[in-house]
Order: sequence, then structure tokens, then C-alpha cells
Amino acid sequence: MLRKIGIALAVGALASTGAAAQDTAKVGLVLPLTGGLAAVGKQVQAGAKLYMEKSGATVAGKKIDLIIKDDGGVPDNSKRLAQELIVNEKVAVVGSALTPSAMAIGPLSTQGKSANVVMVSGTSGVINPNNPYMVRTSFTLGQQSGIIAEWAAKNGAKKVVIVQSDWAPGAEAASVFTDAFTKAGGQVVETIKVPLANPDFAPFLQRARDLNPDTLFVFVPAGQAGTFAKQFTERGLDKAGIKLIGPGDVTDDDLLPNMGDAVIGAVTAHMYSASHPSKMNKDYVAAFEKAYNFRPNFMSVGGYDGMHLIYEALKKTNGDTDGDKLMAAIKGMKWESPRGPISIDADTRDIVQNIYIRKVEKVDGKLYNQEFATFEAVKDPVKAAKK
Ligand code: PHB
Repeated sequence: MLRKIGIALAVGALASTGAAAQDTAKVGLVLPLTGGLAAVGKQVQAGAKLYMEKSGATVAGKKIDLIIKDDGGVPDNSKRLAQELIVNEKVAVVGSALTPSAMAIGPLSTQGKSANVVMVSGTSGVINPNNPYMVRTSFTLGQQSGIIAEWAAKNGAKKVVIVQSDWAPGAEAASVFTDAFTKAGGQVVETIKVPLANPDFAPFLQRARDLNPDTLFVFVPAGQAGTFAKQFTERGLDKAGIKLIGPGDVTDDDLLPNMGDAVIGAVTAHMYSASHPSKMNKDYVAAFEKAYNFRPNFMSVGGYDGMHLIYEALKKTNGDTDGDKLMAAIKGMKWESPRGPISIDADTRDIVQNIYIRKVEKVDGKLYNQEFATFEAVKDPVKAAKK
């Protein structure tokens, strides 16, 4: 008798977890919430949560259970956490962040056949044919660096020094910039690499100033632009008349309000500005600032759009979380983001988006990246060049 009750209880428990699992789709984000790049995770998390608040926690009959794990920006942690999420938690989708972490997680989503939305990485190779379950909602550094190179060459830049954070996204920004700028007739006099961890830009900026360029092309990751701007000003590069250009990470909206007037006039190419003039973005910024008390930056839209992609894919599959079905649903998807119109290239699974040229200006006493030119539906140029 006792045995029978035991079995009945066990069956009952199984049935109820089964039902709960069927009604829930778990989404596991592996983000840097501590460590040197914690500012990145903070923005992505805020964007993802805001999307869920706006859209409700249920989609296609599934309750979305968002599980956020902190990898501290360390790829070994990212791999271990993603493994736990995929194998133990059986997440429908894993979200990856920084380039080295996304590279560490890629093979796991391939083995597990589980969809993997890259919400941060800006390195082209992260989305590749060997990892067919990966898709990107962030950007590539190439999308921005080629466009700013051509703009700079057309607008009088002749002699450029590159200051680059020394890791994969920095290398990609520098190489795409150098190719395009040289092709346009300009000269890159030197490429200076700054360590990624706890950077002290001062000696590198002194070296850059001594080389006497007309323009400095800079890539620093989100979260480091404040320190950069302070040391740029202290070393007097603005007073020396050296123009500041780059992908928009160097005038990151999160930090821009406190960067000081030395960055006024900096021209960058990027996919998102908090002052993008669409109704959707105005609503986004207002809701974001109300919820969190800081300004959204380009990382936040990677998280917001990443969640949108997951919601829309689940709608298309009627709540089926099978990796192959989700990936089929994701390919070619198009939608309006706070950054402007975006889509997922059906062949490469990489993001296609507008790139805007912007200038730092003061608007009502606050610094903003003011968009003044648009390049529509830009694909990752590094992949395009390989075709
Ligand atoms: C990246 O992980 O590729 C990355 C991180 C921060 C940035 C840009 C790219 O600002």
C-alpha cells in the first residue's frame, strides 16, 4: 500500500513538473555583471527586462522565465554557466554577451541544438557557419568602422593615429578602419594598443599626441569611455586640435552626460543614439530612464531586441522551443527597434541595420550624440568581403 502511494506521488510530481515545463520557456542570459565590463551587463539586463515589462511575461502560451547569470566577463565562467543552463535548466534560448564569452558558448549551443542570441559581441567571426544556432542582435565593429573611415577621409582627415583596446573587437575596428581609410587616400601613422583590463590611457594618449595626427580613431569598449575622455582632456588632445572619431563606443550614451565639453564635436558612426528621433525611441528612453534612472546606451538595445527576437520566434513556432524551429523562425525577421529598422540576414544570421553618423552636441545643457547622416541596411562588411 505504502509503495503504491509512493508511486502515485512520484507520478503526480512528474506530471506536474511536466505541465509546468510545457507552460514555461526558459531564457538564460550569461552577462558580465561584475568585473571590468560590468557596465555592459547592466545595460543589457536593463534592456531585456524592460522588454518583458512592456510585452508581458507570457508569449504563445508560454510563461517566459528569464534566468540571468553573472560570468564576470570570464569566458571559462560563461562556458560553465551556459552548460548548466542548457543541460540542467533546459533553457529554450541562451543569450551570450562579450566576444570571448560568446566564442566559448558557441560550441555548446551547437552540441545542444539550442538557440543562442548574441546580444553584445561586435566581432564578425562570432556568427559563423560552424555555429548554426547563433544569431546576433548587437552590431559589428566593421559596420561602423568602414563608414566612419570614409566619412573622415571626405571631411579632411589625412593623418590618423588609432588607439585601440587590445582584444578581438578592437582589432576588428582597427583593421576595417585602416583598410577603408587607406583606400580613400588617408594615412594611418600608428596603431596603439591599450590593455583591456584597468586601462590607463594617459601614456598612450601622450604617444598619440606626439605623433601629431589631425585625427584620432578610438575604440574602447562600453564602460571605459569616461576614463578615456578624462585622460584625453588632461593630456590636452582637444586643445591640440586633434579630432576624435570612432565607432560610437567612445561616446557611450551611458557615460556621455559626465564626459565634459572636451568631447563636443566628436564624430562617430553607430547604430544607436539615445537621441534617435523616432517616436519608438523617445518612448523607450522615457520608460528606461523612469525604470532605472540612467540613460540607455547601445548595449541596452542588444538586450531589448534580443528579447523581441525570442518573443517573435516563439510566436511563429506557436511556443515550440525546438532549436531548429526557432532558428528557422528567426532567419529573415525584420522589425523596428528603438535604434531604427533592423533585420536578421537569412543567410548569415547576422544583424542588418542603419548606421548613423553622429556628432556630440549640447542639447538643453546635456551632451548627446546627434545623428546627421544615415547609411541604410548595413551588413557586416567582414562577412561580405569573404563571399
Ligand atoms: C564585444 O564583446 O565584442 C564588445 C564589447 C564592448 C563593446 C564592443 C564590443 O563596446
